[in-house]
Amino acid sequence: PEATPLAGIRLMLTAGPTREPLDPVRFISNHSSGKMGFALARAAVALGAEVTLVSGPVSLATPDGVQRIDVESAAQMHAAVMAGIDRQQIFIACAAVADYRPKLVASQKIKKSSDTMVIELTKNPDIVADVAALPNKPFTVGFAAETRDVEKYARDKLSRKGLDMIAANDVAKAGQGFNADDNALTLFWPEGQIELPLAGKTELARSLITLIADKYHETH
Ligand code: C5P
Repeated sequence: PEATPLAGIRLMLTAGPTREPLDPVRFISNHSSGKMGFALARAAVALGAEVTLVSGPVSLATPDGVQRIDVESAAQMHAAVMAGIDRQQIFIACAAVADYRPKLVASQKIKKSSDTMVIELTKNPDIVADVAALPNKPFTVGFAAETRDVEKYARDKLSRKGLDMIAANDVAKAGQGFNADDNALTLFWPEGQIELPLAGKTELARSLITLIADKYHETH
């Protein structure tokens, strides 16, 4: 029989990009495909978890047994997470949330006029930091996509955002990370770290969820 170390555990994930509207027809976004987050959702279901997946706009089918909540902007993702987080024992922030959004959203399509144009941006809420700051916080795992000094930036985020674990990948390496089917990660926690070498996202997600489940049980 399959091992179910997450049986009865409620686990929420964010996945995919966010879209930050400029006007009714335009937005600022990024290349996140949602593949890693969806693979993690599948892996968590396989280990017995009750999974809620808060997803930005992606072209992926909802994994079997997953409750999916679709959102577009970071503000909507933040609201969806906060509305359900009280019930969760584990939270994994896999989404590539836009750090900034246009300060003003035009109600009509912006017309072409002058040769240059300035868009003012304002900071979005940090969803995973807000979750980790809750008095009744779930076991919280973040991701860090870095192009250099991976360990330094990942450990900085781990402590600054108050996370229990952080999975870091070097997005400067070809064939892994954003949009790719393969990925390699290093998982950091305050007292240790482990390398997860290049593998398909399905296999990598299984290893990652197993390590998260182990650490969760060690501390709860
Ligand atoms: O600071 P940075 O964006 O690199 O941190 C990445 C981690 O924080 C990821 O886990 C991401 O999902 C999460 N994040 C978030 N809300 C934001 C920005 C990042 O939850 N506004």
